[in-house]
Amino acid sequence: MVVGDRTLSGEGTTAMASRVSELTGAIRVRVPTLTSIPLPRAVDRRLLNQSWPVTELAPAPAGSGLKPILGDAGAPLIGHSLDFMRFGLEWAFRSYERYGPVTWTSAFGRRIIGLSGPEATQIALVNKDKAFSQEGWKFFIENFFPRGLMLMDFGEHHMHRRIMQQAFTRDRLTGYVGQMGPALREGVAAWAGNSHPRLYWSLKQLTLDVATRVFMGMSSDDDAGAINRAFVDTVRAGTAILRYPVPGGRWAAGLNGRKVLERYFAANLPEKRRTEGVDLFSALCHSTAEDGERFTDADVIDHMIFLMMAAHDTTTITSSAAAYYLAKHPEWQERAREESLALGDDIPDIEALEGLHTLDLVMKEALRLVAPVPSMARKTVKDTEVLGHYLPAGTLVSVNPTINHFAPECWTDPMRFDPERFNDERREDKSHRYAWMPFGGGAHKCIGLHFGTLEVKALLHEMLLAYRWSVPSAYEARWDYVSLPVPVDGLPMRLEKR
Ligand code: HEM
Repeated sequence: MVVGDRTLSGEGTTAMASRVSELTGAIRVRVPTLTSIPLPRAVDRRLLNQSWPVTELAPAPAGSGLKPILGDAGAPLIGHSLDFMRFGLEWAFRSYERYGPVTWTSAFGRRIIGLSGPEATQIALVNKDKAFSQEGWKFFIENFFPRGLMLMDFGEHHMHRRIMQQAFTRDRLTGYVGQMGPALREGVAAWAGNSHPRLYWSLKQLTLDVATRVFMGMSSDDDAGAINRAFVDTVRAGTAILRYPVPGGRWAAGLNGRKVLERYFAANLPEKRRTEGVDLFSALCHSTAEDGERFTDADVIDHMIFLMMAAHDTTTITSSAAAYYLAKHPEWQERAREESLALGDDIPDIEALEGLHTLDLVMKEALRLVAPVPSMARKTVKDTEVLGHYLPAGTLVSVNPTINHFAPECWTDPMRFDPERFNDERREDKSHRYAWMPFGGGAHKCIGLHFGTLEVKALLHEMLLAYRWSVPSAYEARWDYVSLPVPVDGLPMRLEKR
């Protein structure tokens, strides 16, 4: 295997970077972020209930019959940035109760329109008038993930998506499942020495190891560690507070990580083009749309780096949330285990995974309660309207599935963990097309939906066969919303070998 960059070869600077990365990793596992440090409940309540002057985002054009959007800017300079990071869902609900499905706020130094609830989110994601563009995402992640599929718009996006779709056909998925099964079994077995893991961090490492195998086709004897580090640095840079490449800072590490990944993919690309393998990298090199369109080398590199990012945290969060609820509800864990045991010892293929009905219900409910992508960024490219409100061109927009996932008009007892709500007899997710939307909707709906579902089910299946896991009955997980939701304490779990 060609390794196209000197920094992968274990020289002095890399060894140092690796030690620093290990140390910061160890700190990250134990220390909560600034916004999630526990405070007395009364202080939290005061912060949450603080009110600010209500103002219009912009006056609606005279004679349009539209209403202006009402909201507030929050604290001077920082706006509401810290409120959403600290209070996540709770803050989103306050804002929804106060202002309704269309509001505005200020965060990250910008005015941002918030769209929540099934009707408003549907209008933005279906995007009939092509008023909402992916430019919103560029504001947050373009430095590290330029030309990822999610950052493309309209005609260009459509063309790239058609080619990429060829890497997610059923045949391709069958191949990926065949690759990930043994990697997951091996990875889950390796936890046996630790009866009290912080499960979120174990899952994060495992899904990363699986990604280097299934996405890139690297075997365990390749220098996967260096690639993993470069990847982690690239993803973390998106949430850097100091958004400038100061030596030793997150931003600089991210830019360097991105370069390492680019060089790795560029060096291995000719071989992937020559022979067709079962990994995703190979699939992108050979994907051809019906009209013969194919990706250039530069496209393959940009898409690969974006795909790893899009897949990694989302599958980690989904499997963590599902494992947490299975720990809180041992009757569901037993029910899921019975189905897994009935499959026998063979590593399950795609059909066997699809047949794990209880895990399906549990995963859907976990995705409802902890949506891994709690808001989707857009930007208005022309003046438009949502539910009678005026949205001026050039404004950032946050489309929020979280409110939909708890809307009392769609779900019975929405705060309760109740996977049966997805069963055929109830199908509460059908109460509105956009009641349940963890994978988004419209032209940008997650292309890895089936891949992600299969990976999470395969992972939980291996856990069910190998262990029983639990948390104390009073334990409640707290999620930190600084970027995507992460359990503040890493989910301490008691793990017993079966
Ligand atoms: C269970 C885990 C996952 C969740 C909850 C999830 C969620 C999402 C969401 C909400 C979007 C829409 C973003 C938007 O409209 O702005 C999205 C898009 C996307 N996801 Fe996923 N995702 C998951 C797994 C994956 C996996 C495993 C892959 C790849 C193997 C992937 C690749 C993508 C890509 C490429 C896009 C952009 C699609 C486009 O713009 O056309 N995702 N995902």
